[in-house]
Amino acid sequence: MAALKGRSLLSLADLTTDEMLHLLNTAARIKSGEINPQCPQKILGLVFKKASTRTRVSFTAAMYKLGGQVIDLNANLTQIGRGEPTADTARVLDRYLDVLAIRTYAQSEVEDFAHHGNIPIINALTDLEHPCQILADLLTVQEAFGSCKGLTMTYLGDGNNVAHSLILGCALVGMNVRIATPEGYEPDSDIVKKAEALAQGRSEVVVTHDAKAAVSGAHTLYTDVWASMGQEELAEKRIPIFEPYQINAATLAIADPQAIVLHCLPAHRGEEITAEVMEGAQSRIWDEVENRMHAQQALLAAVLGAV
Ligand code: CP
Ligand code: NVA
Repeated sequence: MAALKGRSLLSLADLTTDEMLHLLNTAARIKSGEINPQCPQKILGLVFKKASTRTRVSFTAAMYKLGGQVIDLNANLTQIGRGEPTADTARVLDRYLDVLAIRTYAQSEVEDFAHHGNIPIINALTDLEHPCQILADLLTVQEAFGSCKGLTMTYLGDGNNVAHSLILGCALVGMNVRIATPEGYEPDSDIVKKAEALAQGRSEVVVTHDAKAAVSGAHTLYTDVWASMGQEELAEKRIPIFEPYQINAATLAIADPQAIVLHCLPAHRGEEITAEVMEGAQSRIWDEVENRMHAQQALLAAVLGAV
């Protein structure tokens, strides 16, 4: 899709519905082997200021499958870790690289990279959003049901980065989204407003504290850890607060009988999800993991102008 060439993906709100559906469709065609876009001699840089298994490896594998190369810019081995200004780093890296994926804390940092540099910047997780995760999640829903449109996604737990991108992504593809959190852990209200604008009345965005009502009849159940990276010291205190929002066999029993279960991983079994549900027949978690690679291959090919 020519419209995505040279563009950054900092938030899912950066995409139109057509662009999102095109990316999902491209990812599905790459996965099936129908197309095999190539970006030879293109170089992806990775700046990760937080830990990562899936995102780091799936981006690297995706770039290799496109015939490109990857440079791991570990913040501790570069001047990034010593505080060189983003405005300078961005203008240095864009002289060497073709695309840069960044995992960091503040959303403003990925915005600064995009503002000061001239290459596409991809948000590989910030405290506010995790857009690449949701591309893979919606690809997984599309595989299970044929389309996301008109279905209901229910997310239980913390109104965090994953929840934010999920709200926006569902709105773009016309999927109803219900977010059930404990009081005080709701998603950002600006993100909810953005999603309502993106949904254009085609689908609902519901934020509630009522887990049961949110799950009733849902086609996809989704959860994430109750304390994200950077919040480790809050984890113990949150367990009793979040306990009613666990995905377990009783939760699954009130969802649609065909419902699938997703989790971005890493998971804390026995907290936000039981081991039984994770490994059960309705779990699509391992397909979701694989889809990170296909979705990011489509995204990289799109921003590099190869599809
Ligand atoms: N889901 C996800 O982003 O996993 P990693 O933190 O391992 O990249
Ligand atoms: N919300 C989690 C997602 C990890 C992929 C975190 O930010 O730690």
